[in-house]
Amino acid sequence: MAAGRSLARWPLAALLLAACGGGGGWASASNVLMILTTPTPSHHIWSSPLVEALAARGHNLTVLSPTPLKPPRANVTDIVIEGSLEYTDADTDYHALTQISTLEWIRTTMEWYANSCNYSLSTKGVRQLFDYPDDFRFDLIVIEGSGGECLLGFVEKFGRPPVVAINGFGNPQWLNWNVGNPDHPAYVSHSQLTLRWPFSFTDKLKNVLMYLATLYHYYVEFLPANDRMLHTYFAGAVASRAAPVAETLANVSVVLVNAHHSLDGARPFVPALVPIAGIHIKQPKPLPKDLQQFLDGAPEGAVYFSLGSLVRSDRLGAQQRDALVGAFAALPRGVRVLWKWESDAPPPGLPPNVRVGKWLPQSDILAHPNVRAFISHAGMLSSHESTWRGVPIVAIPLIVDQYLNAARLQGLGVAEKLDYATLSKESVLAALTKVLGDPSYRERMRELSAVFRERPRPPLETAVFWIEHVLRHRGAPRMRAPTADMAWYELMLLDVAAFVLLVVAAVVAVIVLCARGVRRKIGGGKKKTE
Ligand SMILES: *[C@@H]1O[C@H](CO)[C@@H](O)[C@H](O)[C@H]1NC(C)=O
Ligand SMILES: *[C@@H]1O[C@H](CO)[C@@H](O)[C@H](O)[C@H]1NC(C)=O
Ligand SMILES: *[C@@H]1O[C@H](CO)[C@@H](O)[C@H](O)[C@H]1NC(C)=O
Ligand SMILES: *[C@@H]1O[C@H](CO)[C@@H](O)[C@H](O)[C@H]1NC(C)=O
Repeated sequence: MAAGRSLARWPLAALLLAACGGGGGWASASNVLMILTTPTPSHHIWSSPLVEALAARGHNLTVLSPTPLKPPRANVTDIVIEGSLEYTDADTDYHALTQISTLEWIRTTMEWYANSCNYSLSTKGVRQLFDYPDDFRFDLIVIEGSGGECLLGFVEKFGRPPVVAINGFGNPQWLNWNVGNPDHPAYVSHSQLTLRWPFSFTDKLKNVLMYLATLYHYYVEFLPANDRMLHTYFAGAVASRAAPVAETLANVSVVLVNAHHSLDGARPFVPALVPIAGIHIKQPKPLPKDLQQFLDGAPEGAVYFSLGSLVRSDRLGAQQRDALVGAFAALPRGVRVLWKWESDAPPPGLPPNVRVGKWLPQSDILAHPNVRAFISHAGMLSSHESTWRGVPIVAIPLIVDQYLNAARLQGLGVAEKLDYATLSKESVLAALTKVLGDPSYRERMRELSAVFRERPRPPLETAVFWIEHVLRHRGAPRMRAPTADMAWYELMLLDVAAFVLLVVAAVVAVIVLCARGVRRKIGGGKKKTE
């Protein structure tokens, strides 16, 4: 009887499920906290499409970040970490930045992350979140893979919901460590180096040293500093119960990284590490009329020049600026240049084939068929946009991962690389002439672009799918690789190797001893017979 009654309820349940959106895509509207603190505009260019997509699916998002969504959206409560962009936008000397050694970059980057997190703790924005009642519950917390570590006390405050990490700045070592992804220095370049496989012996040695330095900075300096900040600012009960930051990070359900094998090279990925490069790239929109006309009028080719949202080209050194102006003036007559230049006064000596603009719709410009080359700092987002649109690159890397991006693009035959410190009219002109004149750059970039764009699901949908998967199942413990919970010597099977060596040594010792005994006996026998 009872079984019959519950069976009779089934059709109704199925109907309800179908009404709610049907099958795998469905997750009921959830309360999600997104802690997106990285104080650079580009990280938010990358993550806002994800915020918009989740809001459109009806989730109630609370977003802690340096910039509010523009325009404001339904289903999104913006909490702004006021002043954090200005805090890090100190007058930058790009030449000095390019002179920092690779080893130094690890410390510099982590200090920058730690300081900006520490800054955020005393802002009105973060205090607003402190003031949420302690029994308020979020169903999920989305954090950035780097930079918001000192705010992980919120995981405790809001009842330890599952955590998903997203990372706009590639696929750094520590995110792999947190989910136990194979991240072997024999074949994966450290993100501050520019190694391309196969590695030579010195490559591997350098790589291992960088890995060790990163391990040290991350676990011995950086995470403990974040623990100290957390304990200074979070109130009593939360602070005393909160797990160490390292533990919270090692417990993330899924990590979504800005990566794709076509550009980064093939390597193993555990299920909990999901590459979603390209989430920020949309269908191109029509260009403003003047830009459209300018590019239409360049049938011999147009060049787009921008150093990204963080680096201002009006603050370049005079040598570099003049080198660029000189090279543009020496281009064939029909070639036009569009330059993102942030000042009112144009660069001195600007030739008539160049047009400057303070803000330019980069992604849409790269979609114009006349754009044949992109002079870029090879930042990750710019590299991805250019690849998506099939435009070859002239790279002038300045900081952190830009050197590796540039080296990879050059290795794939779709870019030429220039050195910032020695930039000259001749070097710029030579690189541009190559990229514009030799059709192989464009052909290879078209092939790469096709592979980069071809996915089973668009990247933004993939990101939403995995976030909702974690929501539907309140975590993703089945995706957790055993490697995430193993000690390094277990992972390298050093315990087994040591045991096998011991057994072999014991067997050899026994054989040697026996042989000695036999020889002594034979020797003794001989003496006797003599
Ligand atoms: C907000 O969520 C509702 C469902 O709760 C949805 O119908 C609506 O489209 C969402 N609004 C926006 C602007 O995304
Ligand atoms: C959405 O989240 C905010 C917290 O930022 C909360 O105050 C509000 O009640 C939530 N709305 C719904 C419909 O759950
Ligand atoms: C790990 O995350 C799960 C949710 O995914 C949570 O239930 C559990 O308490 C967390 N463990 C620790 C030690 O934070
Ligand atoms: C965080 O900033 C405060 C000043 O606002 C400073 O006293 C403290 O030492 C900093 N903490 C860390 C771990 O850097």
